[in-house]
Amino acid sequence: MIEIKELYKSFGKQQVLKGVSLVINEGEVTAVIGRSGGGKSVLLKHIVGLLKPDRGSIFIKGQDITKLKGIKLDEIRADIGVVFQGGALFDSMTVYDNVAFPLAEKTKLNKKEIYERVIKALSDVGLQGMEYKYPAELSGGMRKRVALARALIAHPKIILFDEPTTGLDPILVRSIHKLIRDTQKQYGFTGLIISHEIPEIFEISDRVAMLHNGKIVEVGTPEEIQKSDNIVVKNFIMGIENGGNNEERTS
Ligand SMILES: Nc1ncnc2c1ncn2[C@@H]1O[C@H](COP(=O)(O)OP(=O)(O)O)[C@@H](O)[C@H]1O
Ligand SMILES: [Mg+2]
Repeated sequence: MIEIKELYKSFGKQQVLKGVSLVINEGEVTAVIGRSGGGKSVLLKHIVGLLKPDRGSIFIKGQDITKLKGIKLDEIRADIGVVFQGGALFDSMTVYDNVAFPLAEKTKLNKKEIYERVIKALSDVGLQGMEYKYPAELSGGMRKRVALARALIAHPKIILFDEPTTGLDPILVRSIHKLIRDTQKQYGFTGLIISHEIPEIFEISDRVAMLHNGKIVEVGTPEEIQKSDNIVVKNFIMGIENGGNNEERTS
């Protein structure tokens, strides 16, 4: 479904991606793990075409999206939902308007159809009755649910999640993860989740890839990753710092 090939990206002198290759299979949930500042969000932004690589390609439905722009890129993007780090809700808009936004912007659905979809998506994420609240009136976990409803609303074939549970307590982390899994089964999207949540992320992933020093150093099922002999993977899972990346933990 998504094939990333030898992706390179630098900002000035800082090389962030140094040949990332990864295949994301259709209908699966793939998690990308790795240290803060390691380039996970940069990788995700390339998949939606928000950043262009210095080298390399990303094939989605057989098309190299790094070479596309304008309408052609918009067509591919219409199939991709994104839950950005922090949720990125519009504070001045109600929950309803936040969730309806992608449909109001990008489709020709009428008001009644939009209304029905929004109510369904909110109910699917457990937020029925919350339409006329503002983001500031919601708890952290509820805001994450709104962000998920907004990603689901256009029924995209692919949803990318950038640390969808950051800042939540472990119980809420599990409940958001379960919601991602449940909606993935119901809506049938292909999921890519960037995550710090070790070990919780293993429970909902079909495959896990570790990004380290600008490359994917290991890919496997959660079981394979947890049993990995790779010292970098082992240390990361056990929470041990190791050299090779001088970034401070920022989030
Ligand atoms: N638009 C940008 N311009 C310059 N540097 C950037 C930009 N986006 C990210 N970076 C840098 O790239 C590195 C990787 O960032 P990021 O992908 O956000 O890491 P993370 O793995 O925590 O998501 C960081 O050092 C960050 O400062
Ligand atoms: Mg990030």
